[in-house]
Amino acid sequence: MNMKNIPKMKNILLPAALTVLMMITQCSNDKTGLKDPFNGYFLIGTSVNKAMITGTDPLALPFIAENFNSVTAENAMKWERIHPEPGKYDFALADSIVSFALKNNMAVIGHVLVWHSQTPDWVFLDSLGNPLTREALLDRLKEHIYTVVGHYRGKVTGWDVVNEAVDEDGSMRQTKWLQIIGDDYIEKAFRFAHEADPDAELYYNDYNNEEKAKRAGVIPIIRDLQEKGIRIDGVGIQGHWHLDSPDFSIVDETIGEYAALGVKVMITEMEINVLPTPAWLYGAEISKTAEYRDSLNPYVEGLPDSVQTQLADRYAALFRILLDHSDAVSRVTFWGINDAYSWKNDWPIPGRTNYPLLFDRNYKPKPAYYAVINEVKKK
Ligand code: G3I
Repeated sequence: MNMKNIPKMKNILLPAALTVLMMITQCSNDKTGLKDPFNGYFLIGTSVNKAMITGTDPLALPFIAENFNSVTAENAMKWERIHPEPGKYDFALADSIVSFALKNNMAVIGHVLVWHSQTPDWVFLDSLGNPLTREALLDRLKEHIYTVVGHYRGKVTGWDVVNEAVDEDGSMRQTKWLQIIGDDYIEKAFRFAHEADPDAELYYNDYNNEEKAKRAGVIPIIRDLQEKGIRIDGVGIQGHWHLDSPDFSIVDETIGEYAALGVKVMITEMEINVLPTPAWLYGAEISKTAEYRDSLNPYVEGLPDSVQTQLADRYAALFRILLDHSDAVSRVTFWGINDAYSWKNDWPIPGRTNYPLLFDRNYKPKPAYYAVINEVKKK
């Protein structure tokens, strides 16, 4: 190699290398994807996990940038991950998700500050292993929220402040938060979150809260916060749904009821399970599971066309309703980018092959994808 040419080559190679690097970290958001026809209606989001963000699956990030304009960390911001031990925070993975999203002009949803699940036992105990007092647990909650929300101040669009606080019958779920602090733990969490980032939106999030009984428990929580002048911007309906349930007319009714309270409505974790599943396992109560049986895993070799069509029709029916309510609905987030990533492959029955999303395991749009695009194009 002629050494004299090196400065010249540097002039060519360095900008080229920088461009490639920029393409990797800032996957172009310009390509038209799922999100684009929904501009002016609502954001289209996805959950993001470790394999996607660390590049184990190199196809994931460009695909996310192309198809979604909002991301939610599937697990990285849960208490057990981000605050695994007293005084020890681990922001690394969540930071990567947030920085990817911001580079690509996406909304970032913080999930989740207060939940009965995925919260380590130590949170509720003192150093001697005795249950904390109300005051001590409130201090711990405040410290956690101030630290996590403070860390992402100005970066996270909105937080799922409290997740799944209501039982199926509409009563308050008996959690350690409720038992130790009392039912004002919800208002305290919202107050702390607002103090930590006054500009962030704050949401209450739940599953099955389109069902009448549960909805009747959620509405007073929203009203109570509003009456006390505490910020609440929206209510998340997780949307862990099935081919045969719920009847989407209740989703229609629910969006209307929540919107009448003056809050935004979001579908926050949506997918449609296509596998036979006992009805007592509908929802997302992750402590409930059932044993694997081949008869409950019928589509290992592929989804039959008839079911593919049923799924597409079901998605179309849902999106007709969501688009009709687009004044109230601000975001629809899918829980996973394609079928391979859905938690429904392993819950409530482990080791199944499920097909609940709009893209297949090879990132190929399914008939359900075209069905929802068709609905928005009719508008
Ligand atoms: O990452 C570890 C891996 O290192 C380990 O070998 C493996 C063995 O069990 O576990 C892996 O972690 C699992 C993690 O998912 C990542 O796959 C956890 O065990 C498992 O509990 C965790 O499940 C998550 C679940 O919440 C509980 O946090 C699901 O991914 C996630 O989709 C699900 O999401 C929740 C929402 O946050 C709230 N609404 C319900 C929804 C579904 O349960």
